[in-house]
Amino acid sequence: MKYDFTFYNPTRIHFGKNSLDNLKDELSNYGKNILLVYGGGSIKKIGLYDKVVNILKECNKNIFECGGITPNPKYKDMLRGVKMIEDNHIDLILVVGGGSVIDCAKGMSVSLGLKDPFKDLWLEGKEVTKNNIPVGSILTMVGTGSEFNGGSVITDEDRKIKMGRVFPSHVYPKFSILNPELTYSVSEYQMVSGIFDILSHLMEQYFSGDDDNVSDYLIESLMKSLIDATPKAIKNKEDYEARSNIMWIASLALNTLVGLGKTQDWEVHNIEHQLGAYTDCAHGMGLAAISVPYYKHIYKYGLDKFVRFAKNVWNIDDTNKSKDEVALLGIEALSKFIKDSHMVTHISELGATKDMLKDIANSCIESGGYKVLSHEEIYEILKEAY
Ligand code: NZQ
Ligand code: ZN
Repeated sequence: MKYDFTFYNPTRIHFGKNSLDNLKDELSNYGKNILLVYGGGSIKKIGLYDKVVNILKECNKNIFECGGITPNPKYKDMLRGVKMIEDNHIDLILVVGGGSVIDCAKGMSVSLGLKDPFKDLWLEGKEVTKNNIPVGSILTMVGTGSEFNGGSVITDEDRKIKMGRVFPSHVYPKFSILNPELTYSVSEYQMVSGIFDILSHLMEQYFSGDDDNVSDYLIESLMKSLIDATPKAIKNKEDYEARSNIMWIASLALNTLVGLGKTQDWEVHNIEHQLGAYTDCAHGMGLAAISVPYYKHIYKYGLDKFVRFAKNVWNIDDTNKSKDEVALLGIEALSKFIKDSHMVTHISELGATKDMLKDIANSCIESGGYKVLSHEEIYEILKEAY
C-alpha cells in the first residue's frame, strides 16, 4: 500500500428484508424530537412513510417533518431543515430516501448557527464542530453510498455550484437501514442511473496510481459483480439476489474502504457536478454520458491500468494486440454496457445545450488522476459527450 491511512467507519448497517425491525432499537438511543426528512413523495406511494410514522408514534416520539427535498438537493431546502432543527430542539434527523435526501440531512446536521454554511463548509472547507445533530437513514434508492459515508453534495442554485464535501466520521449516519425490497419501486431510469454511479465510484478510485495494491483487486471484484447483476435487475426489477447485491456493492463502493492507501481520480464527478448545477440532471446519467469521452481522452496517460481494466474486468483477449488496442477495447466494452443498460450516452439528452458547454467547462475544477485537465480539455470532452 503506497500511503498510510486511518480507517474508521461508525455507521451501523442493518441489511435485508426485515431490517426495518431494527428501527425501534435504534430510536431508543435518542431523545424525543425527530426530524423526518424525505423527498418528493415516493415513500408515501410505497407505504413506507406510514410504516415509519407508526414506529415513531409507538416509540412516543414527536415528529417534525421536512419533506420535498429534491434530487440534487438544493441549499435553500437544506437551510429550511436547519431552521426546523434550531426551532424544535431536534434530537435525531431520520432520513428516508435516496442519496439526495441523505446528503441534505448531513448538511442540515452540521450547519447550525452558521449564516452561510455553504460558503463556510463547502466552498471554504472550514472544520465542522462535533456538536452536529445525529443522522439515521432508511435507504430507498441505491447508488451514492451516502448511507455509509460522510459525503454531502449540495447545489447552490444562486451561485450555480454543485459541490461535494466529505465530512468526518462523526457526521456519517449513526445507522442505516438497507432493505433491497424498498428499492423495487424505483423507475428503471433512476435504477440504472444509480448503477452507473456505483460503477463510476469504483472507476474513479481505480484509475489512478501505478502501484500494486489490494484496493484495486477489491475494486475489480466489485465491478465484475455489478456488471453481472445489472442485466438481471433490468430484466426483473424484483430479482432479490440481483437487487440486494447491487445495494451492497453500492455501499461498499463508497464507504472509503476500497480506495484506501492509493491515489484516486474523481474528475468525472467534478465535471458531472457542474453539469448537474446547470441542468439538474440525474447524477448517474451525467456520469454515464461523460465517462467514455473522458477515458478515451486520458487512457494513454495510464495505459497499463486501462489494459488491466480491459482484461480483468471485461475479459478482453489481448492475444496479438497492442496495449493501445486492448485499452480501447476495454473502453468500448464500457460503452456497450452503458448502451445495453439503457443509460444516457449524450449530455444533450440531459438538458445541456451547446452554448452552456463553455461555461460548464470553465466552472469545473482543473484536476484528474492520470492527467490534470485544463478547462480547454474539459470543454473538448463535453463537446464529445454532447
Ligand atoms: O423524491 P422522491 O419522491 O423520493 O423520488 C426520488 C427521486 O426522484 C426517487 N426515489 C427514491 N427512492 C424511491 C424513488 N422512487 C420510487 N421508489 C423509491 N423507493 O429517485 C429519484 C432520485 O433520488 P436521489 O436521491 O436524487 O438519487 P441518488 O440516490 O442517485 O442521489 C443523487 C445525489 O447524491 C449525490 C449526487 O451528486 C446527487 O446529488 N452524490 C452523493 C454522494 C455521497 N454522499 O457520497 C456521492 C455521489 O457521487 C453523488 O455525488
Ligand atoms: Zn457519484
